[in-house]
Amino acid sequence: MIAANGAYLPLLLERLSRDHARIAGVIKQLEFLADDLDTTPDWDGISELLDFLEYYADKVHHPLEDRVFDHLVNKGLTPTERHLVFKNLGQHEEITGMTETLARTAAQAVEGVVIDVPEFQEALAAYISLQMRHLRFEENQLFPLLDHGLDNSDWNVLTRVIDPPEQDAPFPAGGEGDEADTQKEES
Ligand SMILES: [Fe+2]
Repeated sequence: MIAANGAYLPLLLERLSRDHARIAGVIKQLEFLADDLDTTPDWDGISELLDFLEYYADKVHHPLEDRVFDHLVNKGLTPTERHLVFKNLGQHEEITGMTETLARTAAQAVEGVVIDVPEFQEALAAYISLQMRHLRFEENQLFPLLDHGLDNSDWNVLTRVIDPPEQDAPFPAGGEGDEADTQKEES
């Protein structure tokens, strides 16, 4: 793929960017459903979206990124750049923990368990905010590091060791085509 600046964009980096658009689309849907939690909560929808994020973002996308960033660290980075990579690892762990907790609570609500809605709303809002900040952080600070720090042979190695390179998950109902541009989100 040719990027807007005319440069060759490695397939794997293109894949990571596409993942981000899909994840941002799901977060937007989650935000939409969160608005109705007080009045007409759609627990099935919220649960489905969180399950998708638990699988696709936390178990497929983040591990894929961690492997790519690990390769980058081993190529040699400045202390500041290394700090960014390790900060990102921490964010992945934090997001994974939050997704698990929220998905478990939403699944209980689907089963009819009475949920502390204001508490869930607060946790969900913090989660949505962190997810969007995380996507922007990676796109603005880490993907450029990959673009500059890895050459074609690195990308070829990574594409070979990451098997299969494509691990797309089924998109939640209504989600396809709702891919979002994280750069347009508010902070
Ligand atoms: Fe990411």
